[in-house]
Amino acid sequence: MALRVLGLETSCDDTGAAILDDGRLIAHVVESQDVHVIYGGVVPELASRAHITLLPRVLETTLDRAGASLASIDAVAATIGPGLVGSLLVGLEFAKGLAMARGIPFVGVNHVEAHLVSPGLEHDLPYPFLGMVASGGHTEIYHVPRPGTARRLGSTRDDAAGEAFDKVGKLLGLPYPGGPHVDRLAREGNPAAFDFPVARLERGTLDVSMSGLKTAVKLHVEREPRPLSDRTVRDIAASAERAIVTALVERLEEALERFPSTALAISGGCACNTRLRDEAARIAGARGIPALVPSPAFCRDNGAMIAYAGWLSLERGETTPLTANAVPNLDSFPG
Ligand code: KG4
Ligand code: ZN
Repeated sequence: MALRVLGLETSCDDTGAAILDDGRLIAHVVESQDVHVIYGGVVPELASRAHITLLPRVLETTLDRAGASLASIDAVAATIGPGLVGSLLVGLEFAKGLAMARGIPFVGVNHVEAHLVSPGLEHDLPYPFLGMVASGGHTEIYHVPRPGTARRLGSTRDDAAGEAFDKVGKLLGLPYPGGPHVDRLAREGNPAAFDFPVARLERGTLDVSMSGLKTAVKLHVEREPRPLSDRTVRDIAASAERAIVTALVERLEEALERFPSTALAISGGCACNTRLRDEAARIAGARGIPALVPSPAFCRDNGAMIAYAGWLSLERGETTPLTANAVPNLDSFPG
């Protein structure tokens, strides 16, 4: 009989739910919280309160779309960390309450691990694969030899890739989060217009550093006459995007040289980025392996990846006790 898993995601400012039958997605819903837009960033207190009001509705819509009832769910998965503690607690306690009331297993899912395996929602994920999670909170490269285990090869020393995109967006006066706007404007700009630096760290490391880029863009923007012309905004967006993506892709190429992999999997919000998707396809293609990148809805935070990672854990016989607490700084597969 098929194992039907409900997945809930509330680690930051997206409220997500999804239902999977034996790893196959039946329905999913994500509500993005727009209360944060006017603050130019996520306000943790508002995020937890918004999850409280959104979660029951998101779950009901997901069940409706799946044509399913709560009685048909066999297990509940929810993000246990890393993330904002208040936001995590809302989803976690909601999920544990459902599991307890129904007497079904609960699985606490690591949010970064869920991003890492999320290409498996839509593609056959062959092992060993090289995976990069690039989002607003994380930029990490992993070698994944088999399900349930991974080795972290590198991460950011300062800003996450999404933070770098968002800071560039802010300097250009674009709405929060800036990443999608920078992507859109960069398509019409010249990536070679400005020579923003790609941080070079010591030889052999697979870490990246993004903070130098933000400073370079800031100094450049300050020198430009106001208001910034449309042309300048597009060229800065394209040049900054090139610097961010080059930093990531150089590390991925080196990692692929050193760690034999049968696929390259890119995930997290920044995997929506057009240039990163193209570059991932190019470097994977050059090695004769597929670049597996989720559809945009599954790159951003969503319940489907939580249900999927939860299902993989259940398949391995792993469940989580109902006494489990949220772990805001939860690490995943330390290097
Ligand atoms: O995975 P995600 O939805 O949430 C976190 O776990 O952080 O990632 C959000 C990040 C934001 O920084 C956003 O600007 C970035 O992903 N992002 C993009 C694009 N779409 C979203 N960055 C570059 N290009 C995009 N198209
Ligand atoms: Zn995320």
